[in-house]
Amino acid sequence: MRNKQDALAKAAAALCQLGVPERLPQLRETGISISREDPGRSHSVVTQPPLHSLLPYNPDTAHPIRFRNSTGLYVHIAFCEMMCTFCHYTVDLSLGEDDISESRRSRVERYLDALYREIRMRGKELRKRGTRIDSVFIGGGTPTILSTLQLRQLFNIIRSEFDIIPGVPWCVEASPRTITAPRGEEKLRFLKEEGVGRLSFGVQSFDNEVLKRAGRRQSQDEAIEACIRAASIFPNYNFDLIQGLYKGNPDEVWDNLQEVGKIRPPHLTYYHGRFGDDKQQWQWFQEHPELFETEEETLLGRMLIWHRMEELGYRQTDGNRFARDHNNDPFKVVRTSVRHDLLGVGASAYSHADADGTVDGLFFRNDVSIDGYMTRIENGLPPIATVRPIDDEERLAASYVVGLRSIRTEDRYVKGVIERLPGLYREYRVLAARLTDLGLIEPVQEGERLSELGRLFEDEILSLFYSPSVRSMVG
Ligand SMILES: C[S@@+](CC[C@H](N)C(=O)[O-])C[C@H]1O[C@@H](n2cnc3c(N)ncnc32)[C@H](O)[C@@H]1O
Ligand code: SF4
Repeated sequence: MRNKQDALAKAAAALCQLGVPERLPQLRETGISISREDPGRSHSVVTQPPLHSLLPYNPDTAHPIRFRNSTGLYVHIAFCEMMCTFCHYTVDLSLGEDDISESRRSRVERYLDALYREIRMRGKELRKRGTRIDSVFIGGGTPTILSTLQLRQLFNIIRSEFDIIPGVPWCVEASPRTITAPRGEEKLRFLKEEGVGRLSFGVQSFDNEVLKRAGRRQSQDEAIEACIRAASIFPNYNFDLIQGLYKGNPDEVWDNLQEVGKIRPPHLTYYHGRFGDDKQQWQWFQEHPELFETEEETLLGRMLIWHRMEELGYRQTDGNRFARDHNNDPFKVVRTSVRHDLLGVGASAYSHADADGTVDGLFFRNDVSIDGYMTRIENGLPPIATVRPIDDEERLAASYVVGLRSIRTEDRYVKGVIERLPGLYREYRVLAARLTDLGLIEPVQEGERLSELGRLFEDEILSLFYSPSVRSMVG
């Protein structure tokens, strides 16, 4: 108990040293405060441009899709054994191969058929261009809800349709319950044999009450068991926790960190809970804000996380991510940086191609509705529903939105963009200077980055750097 009080006191003192809480009113005036809403229409600023700034796709007028020599591949499996009350992703319920509902089982089959058709179509296009795959991420949803047989078929199709560079990283997402299920171990071993090097799954909290309200089906004990099983097969695994869910508070954060200290996962991601207005957690937040953390508590919890993770020997790779070894999450870079091509297949999956060429690249997203996606594919139509060209404006925005997460530098590529957009660049410099005056950005030898105070509000600050056309659209 004493440890907890000491740790909370140390976190509070560190916040005071950064000028929190006195500076909160001034920061709020600049539009910076911890938000329970979803700043990039996801739980963090996941993509640049953000997903809610995409425009309807018209194949006759859109820029052509040109993948370069190599691209990352993302495959979306849109099914889970639970519908979590906070979750942003395009998912539907499936209880897996033993699901007693025939209609749910055949829906999964219908989805997989559509997915395979899309994979074949994209595979052909990429082979024709000579584009190879340089990383594979099978996410969702919960890919491990599929049976081993279905997973085998999926892997076979991916391998036969795409030209995959040997030895590239593969990651698969799972959930605690699909890991601890009777056939869970068999699935993990299958994935390992297939060359998957990284497993990632959500725990969200080790508090049974928080888990229940989050709609998670696992208990604290099952989450711990899943970690033990994952560790026994995958030396490189990650699990996610979420701060600020219903009934979450700094005490719960401390208890979660105690479990992290016992389990010692190689990688941990500790998200802020952000809720879309159609989510149950958002309704609860509107009706009972007192059952959620206040902004001050969230900041205290964040500082507690940073301190404790450092004491446990972890390196912080951004505001949310911690690694015990020297490996960063390679997939994070591919997903967020439009400078590296990404092909996403499946409902709601997004892609970006040719973003740092001399002509415009394209960011595009498949239909977010599972039914809409399947119907498009079944009717021989492209699954793409929305797009945004990646022009110089978006490239300049990306240099801040993505760059400031680590260190923003101005390499030859960024300098070229700046030369073409001097007026907009000046506006960005004015904004960066204002945030520097507020102590949120700091210069470093290689460029600039978020300061410690800035990292507390990472997503809120990054979203200020969306391009003018994105901001005029999404506010
Ligand atoms: C695809 S899921 C992970 C795998 C698996 N489906 C599971 O939940 O165990 C990706 C992660 O996104 C995070 N996430 C989803 N919605 C979120 C939200 N509204 N706020 C914060 N994090 C969220 C969760 O931590 C979740 O584990
Ligand atoms: S958090 Fe994971 S298990 Fe829950 S609905 Fe989202 S993707 Fe599915």
